[in-house]
Amino acid sequence: MGDKNKNPYHCFPLEKEDDDRQFSPSSQRNGPHILTVLKKHFPAHGTVLEIAAGTGQHAVMFAPEFPNLTWLPSDPAADKRKSIGAWMKIKPSENLLPPVALDAAATKWPVENMKLEPPVRAIICVNMIHVAPWRAGQGLLAAAGRILPKGGILYLYGAYKVDGEYTAPSNKDFDETLRKTDPEWGLRELREVEREAEKNRLFLKDVVDMPANNLSVVFQKI
Ligand SMILES: C[S@@+](CC[C@H](N)C(=O)[O-])C[C@H]1O[C@@H](n2cnc3c(N)ncnc32)[C@H](O)[C@@H]1O
Repeated sequence: MGDKNKNPYHCFPLEKEDDDRQFSPSSQRNGPHILTVLKKHFPAHGTVLEIAAGTGQHAVMFAPEFPNLTWLPSDPAADKRKSIGAWMKIKPSENLLPPVALDAAATKWPVENMKLEPPVRAIICVNMIHVAPWRAGQGLLAAAGRILPKGGILYLYGAYKVDGEYTAPSNKDFDETLRKTDPEWGLRELREVEREAEKNRLFLKDVVDMPANNLSVVFQKI
């Protein structure tokens, strides 16, 4: 219990037994701040592919804010996809599609065979690349390079190291906690993410300081 409380992404099932919804306090808190940045950068039309959608709180919070976009959530974990579906029942939105199973580390993503209409023009991934092996981040950047059209947007949110430094003491503690949980997890170096993105024709468009020492990192495909 003590360890769970230290995990800033701790999520828990809601009270009722017949309810598959999970709740993450951090997602509820960071959602409105993320939305402000998305409003500035998201395209006017197209499908938004959400990677690592987790509980689904962001999907039901964001989709109705972009009625001209179609929102497709995804997560590799079956319990998370169930939670997303359960949130969608409580907070339906016409432009929100049922979740798909997607592991960012895969060399080919299932959505690449789906002939989505409208096509994907933006990809969002919140709090995943440091809570998964680096190959998941590399897979995400490679797939974004393959899937996004010219001008398409990749939005990342999370805690980063910048030029080899932690941006706050709490991020150092967090990084240590992540690495103790799994040695392949840990805060990513923003410049390394940028270099990997550039290999896939994704160029840094914006970096925004967010509450709790997080960053919004926005890439655009050229
Ligand atoms: C800390 S949670 C963040 C969830 C959600 N984006 C949010 O902000 O509440 C991390 C999520 O990453 C997902 N995840 C872990 N490894 C992944 C991978 N290789 N590809 C895609 N998602 C992954 C987990 O299933 C989990 O839902």
